[in-house]
Amino acid sequence: MTQASLLDGKSIATAVEADVRKEVEKLAAQGITPGLVAVRVGADPASEVYVRNKARKATELGFRGTQEHHPAEIRQAELMAVIARLNADNEVDGILVQLPLPPHIDSEAVLRAIDPSKDVDGFHPVNVGLLHLGSAKLVPCTPAGVIRMLESTGESLRGKNAVVIGRSNIVGKPVAALLLQRDCTVTICHSRTRDLAAVASQADILIAAIGRPLFVTGEMIRPGAIVIDVGINRIEPDSEPARAIRDEGKLRALREGKSVLAGDVDFPAALERASWVTPVPGGVGPMTIAMLMQNTVIAARERRG
Ligand code: GUN
Repeated sequence: MTQASLLDGKSIATAVEADVRKEVEKLAAQGITPGLVAVRVGADPASEVYVRNKARKATELGFRGTQEHHPAEIRQAELMAVIARLNADNEVDGILVQLPLPPHIDSEAVLRAIDPSKDVDGFHPVNVGLLHLGSAKLVPCTPAGVIRMLESTGESLRGKNAVVIGRSNIVGKPVAALLLQRDCTVTICHSRTRDLAAVASQADILIAAIGRPLFVTGEMIRPGAIVIDVGINRIEPDSEPARAIRDEGKLRALREGKSVLAGDVDFPAALERASWVTPVPGGVGPMTIAMLMQNTVIAARERRG
């Protein structure tokens, strides 16, 4: 079999962003500038990078994109007041609270406080319910990005066996719902699944969203499968996971004492067996931000258009 084709998240994201720009122009003709506020709490270094990238992309696409940073010690009531203020601000179309929040904060209460019409993450129970009914306007960004990547292969999804590894509220559950809506036969695997490798190896579409580096090995990949790797794991030199890395470029960086990013899939194995595979970085990551931008213009159009 020939080597798998790469699903290039950067170029697919660029196409999504071009559509978003057109929507921004249409809204501008009505005097509307979409507004996105990304709220970050505490000093999680990964969150800092994600929020900065989201706000930067929003500005680049012609939104009012701002980030708000609050100290890790913020009290629940203060954070709820932040959300109430953003809910009341008509110029704010999208509110995103970067997760994880500090342990003393009730994250679920914060997410529930966001006006569902501004919930560009699609995490509010109203939007989760609409998603499962098949009528959501605001769909969680990473799952929406995964579907967009699958569609970009040009292959029909109807009747395909889709196996999702991971059952998080952010990725596993919503991506399963979206695959079901596209007539896939969907199986969700998790830490208690018996003989996960055997289940995974039946997949025409394999979605890895576990958060464990190189969890998906070659034997779990059915020859010809489409493999979507949602994991983003930072690997330090001389660490246990570093020993499993086989990718030449990453091995070189590790030998030079640099950390690297790796997905949940053994990428060289996927290249040998799959028909399509997403790289990490440069796969699902850029799609998540692009779909957030798309959700923000949808929110602006629905609220004010
Ligand atoms: N943390 C990890 N993924 C996400 C996401 O998609 N949205 C938010 N708000 N926080 C996250």
